[in-house]
Amino acid sequence: MKLNIALLAGDGIGPEVINEAVKVSDAIAKKFNHEIVWTPALTGACAIDAVGVPYPDETHEICMKADAVLFGAIGHPKYDNNPSAAVRPEQGLLLMRKKLGLFANVRPTFTFPSLIDNSPLKRERIEGTDLVFLRELTGGIYFGEKGRKDHGETAFDTCTYTRAEVQRLAKKGFELAMTRTKKLCCVDKANVLETSRLWRETVQAMEKDYPEVTVSYEFVDAVAMRLVQWPNSYDVLITENLFGDILTDEASVISGSMGLMPSASVGEHTSLYEPIHGSYPQATGLNIANPLATVLSAAMMFEDAFKLTAEAEAIRDVVNKSLEQGIVTEDLAIKGAKTYSTSEVGDWLVANL
Ligand code: IPM
Ligand code: MN
Repeated sequence: MKLNIALLAGDGIGPEVINEAVKVSDAIAKKFNHEIVWTPALTGACAIDAVGVPYPDETHEICMKADAVLFGAIGHPKYDNNPSAAVRPEQGLLLMRKKLGLFANVRPTFTFPSLIDNSPLKRERIEGTDLVFLRELTGGIYFGEKGRKDHGETAFDTCTYTRAEVQRLAKKGFELAMTRTKKLCCVDKANVLETSRLWRETVQAMEKDYPEVTVSYEFVDAVAMRLVQWPNSYDVLITENLFGDILTDEASVISGSMGLMPSASVGEHTSLYEPIHGSYPQATGLNIANPLATVLSAAMMFEDAFKLTAEAEAIRDVVNKSLEQGIVTEDLAIKGAKTYSTSEVGDWLVANL
């Protein structure tokens, strides 16, 4: 099979982790007789530096023509402490999500048996955790009307949702729940927010179409707490954009390192696969970043975008093997044990596929 993939390495450690995911994907392609055509394109701070905008039209065209997008990370410290920057790398990511219609962000959190003791949470709390957040990605406060008034002394961001936006995300949640343990949690703040009441009302109305799915409705603050108390009590969770942003970072530490969790963004046009971690500026160029979240994102891509399940399984198996054998970057180091660089982990995965 011929796989046409847009490659958006982005900023910070993006290029380093993407490099390893490409090595592993190419090795899989060779093993299973596929041909991958990678088309690199600019996005983020590197695009601003090169052409003045964080998501150039040319990059968008490449993404639209591709069968899948593999994405690294964006962001640069020179923008973080400059609130008045006219263009920001993150705008590129938001624009890309919007223009590709990527309204659903699939963010799993699971544990690796060999890493249970790396988690800051106790073994008995997290064992068996296997949950998936479906975060709404193109609406809410991220995209609502925002601005300043009163000569700059007042700022506002508005959270807006339409019923249709909630329905299409919830539909994916119900469908995903049907393929798993048929448990769905709708996370909102319906005791305070009108948008949350629309979410709740919409999801409630959809329950009759999925009689086998048990739906719970929980407030976001309570979910934040229960997520570290009893993460293994959750299965599929659906939520709006900002709540999902915050809760998925929180959930990612359950596995032991943020450097492990992959994600997929899906919707109207080409799907995008990316690690949930950011650009990690402190590690840029040091060859120490954990490439596994990106490698596992490539596995999600093989499975979801190309329906190549055996290929995805082979990647997950070799990743598990590397963890069991302690071939890990320093974020996963057990005290005193040898650690490996980003590229050494990638080399080991390729050699052991
Ligand atoms: C994420 C990131 C982005 C977000 C930033 C970089 C805009 O934190 O993908 O979770 O807030 O969505
Ligand atoms: Mn985030």
